[in-house]
Amino acid sequence: MWSLLIFVIIGLFVSQNSVDATHNCTILTKGSPYFPKNFKFGVATSAYQIEGGWNADGKGPSIWDDYTHHYPERITDGTNGDSAAESYRLFDLDLKALKDLGVHHYRFSIAWTRIFPTGYINSKNQKGIDYYNDVIDKLLANGIEPMVTMYHWDMPVGIQKFGGFSNTLIIEQFLDYAEELFKLFGDRVKTWITINEPNEICKGGYGTARSPPLLNASGVGDYMCFTNLLKVHGATYRLYRSKFFEKQRGQVGISLNVDYVFSQTNNTNDVNRALDYEFGLLAHPIYSKFGDFPPILLKEIGKSSRNEGRKRSRLPSLGTYWTSVIKGSADFMGMNYYTSMFINSSTEPRGENPSYERDYNYVSTVDTRCPKAKSFWLYAVPQGFEDLLKYIRDHYDNVEVKITENGWSDSGDLDDNMRIKYYKTHLQAVLNAINDGCNVTAYTAWSLLDNFQFHAGFIEHFGLYAVNMTSPNRERTPKKSAHFYNKVIKTRSIPYDF
Ligand SMILES: *[C@@H]1O[C@H](CO)[C@@H](O)[C@H](O)[C@H]1NC(C)=O
Ligand SMILES: *[C@@H]1O[C@H](CO)[C@@H](O)[C@H](O)[C@H]1NC(C)=O
Ligand SMILES: *[C@@H]1O[C@H](CO)[C@@H](O)[C@H](O)[C@H]1NC(C)=O
Ligand SMILES: *[C@@H]1O[C@H](CO)[C@@H](O)[C@H](O)[C@H]1NC(C)=O
Ligand SMILES: *[C@@H]1O[C@H](CO)[C@@H](O)[C@H](O)[C@H]1NC(C)=O
Repeated sequence: MWSLLIFVIIGLFVSQNSVDATHNCTILTKGSPYFPKNFKFGVATSAYQIEGGWNADGKGPSIWDDYTHHYPERITDGTNGDSAAESYRLFDLDLKALKDLGVHHYRFSIAWTRIFPTGYINSKNQKGIDYYNDVIDKLLANGIEPMVTMYHWDMPVGIQKFGGFSNTLIIEQFLDYAEELFKLFGDRVKTWITINEPNEICKGGYGTARSPPLLNASGVGDYMCFTNLLKVHGATYRLYRSKFFEKQRGQVGISLNVDYVFSQTNNTNDVNRALDYEFGLLAHPIYSKFGDFPPILLKEIGKSSRNEGRKRSRLPSLGTYWTSVIKGSADFMGMNYYTSMFINSSTEPRGENPSYERDYNYVSTVDTRCPKAKSFWLYAVPQGFEDLLKYIRDHYDNVEVKITENGWSDSGDLDDNMRIKYYKTHLQAVLNAINDGCNVTAYTAWSLLDNFQFHAGFIEHFGLYAVNMTSPNRERTPKKSAHFYNKVIKTRSIPYDF
């Protein structure tokens, strides 16, 4: 309580002293008011959050099924994704919403255990395959491009048994799955995202005990997960290029989530170091010229490991072979942006020894000056979005960026003016970045529908469409923001008078 109050007081103090050096919760309009002609607008969802049918027609259990069933008390409202928006049964309602919005693409994820119930490809479930064929075919028949995430957190229980991302076995287990996806759907799917938000997967699931599989081994487990996950991603990309690209001609990328950071003391070195930890850990191996983890992480974590009396670093180099597999293993960078943080270097070691927190060693606070969403972590900081895109332009060779998520949570009001305001300012941030030469080609709003927000259950609403959760028919109703977004797409600009 007191520490929270101190954060608030620091927040107020900062607001009066370094506003110009950082941002003021709003954003300037710069340059052309139009998104480029071939810029693509879409919306996103993920399987566990919308599909329901958790054991329908032979689907196997994922770690999120097990987790929510075993620990309902760890979900804010005690709910789970057993039925959610029932998209498995009611996809036609989603299709209608997508058509009404006029989106160019729809980003959804495939539930691994819906098509391979144990996770292994000898457990093929035709009903699950039929479902995704139907989704893809209906999208294409309506001129909507499918953008498919292969893995959005719902690890098969049958694979997690052997360690999931903490065992190098995951490389062949995932490759087998990926190869089947390319064979089954690659004739029609031209945009693939291997993995959604490694930061959440590895820090939440293997570092802390926030998410399944609750490894709770920060400073070791999280880095092990990042390492294996990067190998999975790199190997999947190479598989596509060597066996499928010639015929299928698609793009393969990964969706990274990052909170941009502002320095409380206006220290550029702190910003660069913090971004190397939060973002470079994943982006540097894939998108930099030299590959491997950022040199500063290898050096610092190597040194700490030696000081701890270890024989090896907790974050070893990827080595020559894997560095070359992973370097350049993406046709685009998928970016999920929601918010930014304030950081300040810490004089005292932080967190447990060892831990990611201790390696990172910044005091990280939210910006209490800015509007706050329903989610406790989400403050509207559009300038951070523009600055992040420019950081990518300058540090990662202006790689093509597709925004794969961006959105705002509230309590579910249909008259969602604050969501519209968030979208206006964040679309402006993207437009400013494009006008400044950033290679951003797509924007994907999170989310099409109100859905199961993992730890927050159904309490936080991110949808452009509301879902009637008390009705078996789960009727979808467009919110004001759905009409707003439709106008954005139609005019390729931001309707400020909306
Ligand atoms: C922050 O640093 C930049 C350059 O390093 C400088 O131009 C600016 O005046 C500084 N702002 C504050 C508030 O110290
Ligand atoms: C995680 O591990 C720490 C010790 O490193 C322990 O104090 C904490 O209770 C564990 N949390 C959970 C949820 O298991
Ligand atoms: C940042 O940290 C330094 C030293 O760790 C401290 O002196 C300073 O007061 C902090 N600044 C803010 C704005 O928290
Ligand atoms: C944008 O990215 C694409 C794909 O990587 C590349 O071909 C193009 O040259 C880039 N454009 C700019 C302006 O850098
Ligand atoms: C939701 O559905 C229930 C049951 O069909 C109905 O009684 C209720 O009016 C609906 N709520 C809204 C907001 O439409």
